[in-house]
Amino acid sequence: MKLGIPKETIAGERRVATTPEIAKKLVATGFEVLVEQGAGAAASFTDEAYAAAGAQPVARADCFNADIVLKVRRPSEEEARAVRAGAHYISLVESCGEDALLGRMREQGVTVLAMERMPRISRAQSMDALSSQSNIAGYRAVIEAAACYRRFFPMLMTSAGSAKPARVLVLGVGVAGLQAIATARRLGADVFAYDVRPETKEQIRSLGAKPIELDLGESGAGEGGYAKELSAEAKARQQALLADELAKAHVIITTALIPCRPAPELITEAVVERMRAGSIIIDLAAANGGNCKLTEPDQVIERHGVTIVGHTNYPSMVAADASSFYAKNLSNLLEIMVDKTDAGLQLKDLTADEITKAMLVGD
Ligand code: NAI
Repeated sequence: MKLGIPKETIAGERRVATTPEIAKKLVATGFEVLVEQGAGAAASFTDEAYAAAGAQPVARADCFNADIVLKVRRPSEEEARAVRAGAHYISLVESCGEDALLGRMREQGVTVLAMERMPRISRAQSMDALSSQSNIAGYRAVIEAAACYRRFFPMLMTSAGSAKPARVLVLGVGVAGLQAIATARRLGADVFAYDVRPETKEQIRSLGAKPIELDLGESGAGEGGYAKELSAEAKARQQALLADELAKAHVIITTALIPCRPAPELITEAVVERMRAGSIIIDLAAANGGNCKLTEPDQVIERHGVTIVGHTNYPSMVAADASSFYAKNLSNLLEIMVDKTDAGLQLKDLTADEITKAMLVGD
């Protein structure tokens, strides 16, 4: 069974869907691993390293001729057309509801599996790419904040004077938010955090941060551990109640998302105006409309003396480890997709397992 790993083509994407280490494991399982020449270069994996691991560096077209095409991001039109009938395509396809491109792939006879639809259950944790990549994003967002901030994160006492700890506020305490809290704490900041889901309070405390509690008059907890969209009244109340906390913060890391909805707007322009000059907002929801009204995707801007960072792909900034984790997620998934028989690897019925069933697009 041939696995094809093409080079990513979305601008700025440095990750790759397998690494030499994982390729070696896949080859040992019985897969033939075809990696496009240069596919790992931006994540610091050379063609020589893939070849030494038993993978074959090949031309792009050969990757798309494989039985299973593994990618990180959504396919382009050209990539969608290139996958052959009867093949499987697996990546973070970033789709919600109707999707013409993926519909055409299915008509072509391609089975599409969406990594972002991985169920949030214990058995699927080792295959959960949203978690592995959000974890990295939470870490890298804090590093970005610390680099942009023209003051220290920790309290420092020196013979040349002392620095107070930065007051960091994390909004949205899912996987990225928890890692952002932990990283900001490790850097010595004074960390506060807020989420609409009440169960996050204990998680915030366990990381040495202080939860902010607001009475919105309704719960923000939705299905499957996700948040739901608040009513218009609760949204307005949330913005008003959060305003003082936001204005006091020196660094805000926002990660609030609602599945298949625009990101909730938590920071208004009026709040940005009240923040101390030199403060930083890192908006991890920038790709989904932003948690701050002023965020511009993929731009770093300054408004009212506050730096607002709208990068949309933090995992790509940690491309080597992000690729390693993603590749591991994929190889764990492949383990449950195939049977090892005397005749070689055989694909199982993907509708028979709740994990692969949930990932099938259009079924
Ligand atoms: P996400 O990326 O969808 O959202 C990030 C955070 O934003 C969430 O914590 C959400 O509650 C919060 N949020 C949404 N609207 C908000 C608002 N208006 N104000 C403040 N916060 C707001 O979340 P993620 O990281 O994908 O996690 C979703 C759920 O899945 C969590 O309950 C998490 O614990 C759970 N999970 C379970 C796993 C497992 O059991 N295998 C693995 C990973 C996550």
